[in-house]
Amino acid sequence: PATAAEGPDGRVLLAGVPLADIADAHGTPVYVLDEAEVRDRCRTYRAAFPAAEADVHYAAKAFLCRGLVRLLDEEGLGLDVCSAGELELAVTAGFPPERILLHGNAKSPADLDTALRLGVGRIVIDGPAEIARLAAAVGPRGHQKVMLRVTPGVGAGGHAKIRTGTDGQKFGLSLRDGHAQHAAARVLAQPGLELTGLHCHLGSQITEVKPYLTALRRLVGLMARLRDAHGAVLPELDLGGGHGIAHRPGEPVLDPTTLARRLRTALAEDCAAAGLPVPRLVVEPGRAVIGPAGIALYRVLAVKTTPERTFVAVDGGMSDNPRPALYGVRYAPRLAGRRSTAPAVRTTVAGRHCEAGDLLAEDVALPADTRPGDLLAVPVSGAYQLSMASSYNLVGRPPVVAVRDGAARLLVRRETLEDLRARDVGL
Ligand code: LLP
Repeated sequence: PATAAEGPDGRVLLAGVPLADIADAHGTPVYVLDEAEVRDRCRTYRAAFPAAEADVHYAAKAFLCRGLVRLLDEEGLGLDVCSAGELELAVTAGFPPERILLHGNAKSPADLDTALRLGVGRIVIDGPAEIARLAAAVGPRGHQKVMLRVTPGVGAGGHAKIRTGTDGQKFGLSLRDGHAQHAAARVLAQPGLELTGLHCHLGSQITEVKPYLTALRRLVGLMARLRDAHGAVLPELDLGGGHGIAHRPGEPVLDPTTLARRLRTALAEDCAAAGLPVPRLVVEPGRAVIGPAGIALYRVLAVKTTPERTFVAVDGGMSDNPRPALYGVRYAPRLAGRRSTAPAVRTTVAGRHCEAGDLLAEDVALPADTRPGDLLAVPVSGAYQLSMASSYNLVGRPPVVAVRDGAARLLVRRETLEDLRARDVGL
């Protein structure tokens, strides 16, 4: 993860920039992105999944802004988007539309129109009704490359809310009872649609390779049936994202290089057994690219010691990071603006919002003299925090600052009270 160094005065530096200086210049809460760490992670993925045989599409839902779009393009990644908003932002920032995939179990007319107008590379069909709808939008003389999202019946992922590979959840077409095969046959029959491959996404925060291998085998099985029944040999296989990261030291991670090696071997074996050519492999990591590269910075506003707990309350919370409340995710905050020699005490870091459940970290060790005005840094904060942020309690969403070689650069400004008021046009 973004490796913060500690200066002689105890101030924490990221890419040579004191976090306290960023807090002073941009206010708190603020999210800081270590650009070198993002690039390193992109390069690890590109090396593990080389362009000659694979594509790496960054899942924009984890976090997206124009500065990041530029960087991802430079590093040779593709993009996975799931709304007209993400798609327009990427394309207007200069990202080549042909390297973008559009996902979604409920694509709006605007999502589809935008995708067709901008010339998105692939549209991933999620359900039977979408086939006719997309074919009509494309027209018989039009042409759109599509993939079909299959539910492989594999349960994996860090929390029930983010498991998407099993039957009975809302995404994809089941392998059971020939649902997926039947849908694929219908896609193949549409003159305007070109079925380039199958897709699945098992879930998120997965730390084992095995579920991917099971899904791979099942999808290759369907590819063989499509060849046998319809003479269609699909050139691509997309196994989605979900590669797990550590939010605290010592937690398990899914190493992309190991994953790539084992996928490549399994794909070669399974395809050889089925007599199929090896398709181009696609992966869609979001969290693993951006999560460890981000740090959230908060200012302590209040400290309260009760008979049960010590609360350190900060100026952000579930509005900028809903993940502890939603999925019970645990983080490891630390003091970032000074050194303390006080003993560590068991502390609950609370947010500022009007709910007892607005806690950013429970049972963490912080110095006993932690006090209002102190800065707290929460590492591994780059994914699904800001992208899921709200303006709950009319608290504006925090800015994003990138750091690199001792310099800081604002990527996204803070949402101001004027921004929030401007939307309220009634009387
Ligand atoms: N591809 C598809 C089709 C997806 O739905 C997702 C994530 C990804 C790729 C990227 O997954 P990743 O590599 O980032 O795990 N808000 C939750 C995570 C939701 C993930 C949704 N889909 C969280 O904060 O943990």
